[in-house]
Amino acid sequence: MPYPAGRHFLQIPGPTNVPDRVLRAISAPTIDHRGPDFGTLATEVLGALGPVFGTTRPVVAYPSSGTGAWEAALVNTLSPGDRVLAFETGHFATLWRELAGNLGLDVDFVPGDWRHGVDPDVVRDKLRADRDIKAVCVVHNETSTGVTSRIAEIRRAIDDADHPALLLVDTVSSLGSVDYRHDEWGVDVTVSCSQKGLLLPPGLGFNAVSAKALLAAETATLPRSYWDWRPILAANERGFFPYTPPTNLLYGLKESLAILQEEGLPQVFARHERHAAATRAAVRAWGLEVLCLDEREHSPVLTAVLVPDGHDADKIRALILDRFNMSLGTGLGRLAGRVFRIGHLGHLNDVSLAGTLAGVQMGLELAGVPVDPSGITAALSVLGQP
Ligand SMILES: Cc1ncc(COP(=O)(O)O)c(C=O)c1O
Repeated sequence: MPYPAGRHFLQIPGPTNVPDRVLRAISAPTIDHRGPDFGTLATEVLGALGPVFGTTRPVVAYPSSGTGAWEAALVNTLSPGDRVLAFETGHFATLWRELAGNLGLDVDFVPGDWRHGVDPDVVRDKLRADRDIKAVCVVHNETSTGVTSRIAEIRRAIDDADHPALLLVDTVSSLGSVDYRHDEWGVDVTVSCSQKGLLLPPGLGFNAVSAKALLAAETATLPRSYWDWRPILAANERGFFPYTPPTNLLYGLKESLAILQEEGLPQVFARHERHAAATRAAVRAWGLEVLCLDEREHSPVLTAVLVPDGHDADKIRALILDRFNMSLGTGLGRLAGRVFRIGHLGHLNDVSLAGTLAGVQMGLELAGVPVDPSGITAALSVLGQP
């Protein structure tokens, strides 16, 4: 295989393209994680994380993937047999449910069609009917479907039911790309990780923790050791960790938080909304269907596109990779072969998105999918607005 000319287009919904500035930061020499320079670095980086989560409280950072951060949220706050309310919004909600079941939690899993987010009315009704539920688990942005649940409305539903359950929210594919407010929305644990909106390679997991969640951690009895927030928060106060931390990823995080801050979070969120609108304009003009069915729930970070009957989404993706050196997201779980996902998050500008959509259009045409070529023009008219 010859070395491909030009850059690979990594248009999956995470891991995302890592900016050169972040890559350079990560390549600095590793330092003593018990020395004074590390203490200064970690204090600064952990302190800078709060605004992205919308919290003034500490955020726990683990050397882990998002799955580890899911587990951490559960084992710190819950006890064996506790009842948990969760919603089948897609593949990742299903995986979190399985993890909770493996830990010995009793999950009430509300079925879903993978085309809608969590219905706040169902949250209210379920909680009114069951005072024993200890936690409500919601995936903010379902990466398998491109549907974003409305966390502020879910919070209001919990309050309407006057229910003491904890609210645990997965922001793995929304944090740093979609407006999110841990404190204002009364979220108890926000789960996230590094490889999507935070512009980093995989390897860091996060839990933002409310005072109520910390209190729950005092009485929760699920076994925990590595994931236990308490020794980590105690060591973090001096800028250290109870184990060897991923020093170079923390260099990268310092840089990526600076990049987000320089653009401004409101501008970052608006850019993602605009890119999502341009992508939907293209999909609809092609004559194809966006998977998400509710206008209030379209994901700003990815669009899942249904392929017409008789076509295999994975064959189209393979053709686009081979011919145009661009990776698109595969259909996960029950959506395998039926959708492809266009990631439009992270380190992305208008021209990169235009190139992405041009590649998708050419790929669809080459695969014999009947599409109207006005798709790309429809996207450009959104992107080119003054
Ligand atoms: C919404 C969501 N939650 C959880 C995960 C799991 O994260 P990880 O693969 O880093 O363990 C993912 C992964 O893409 C995700 O998109």
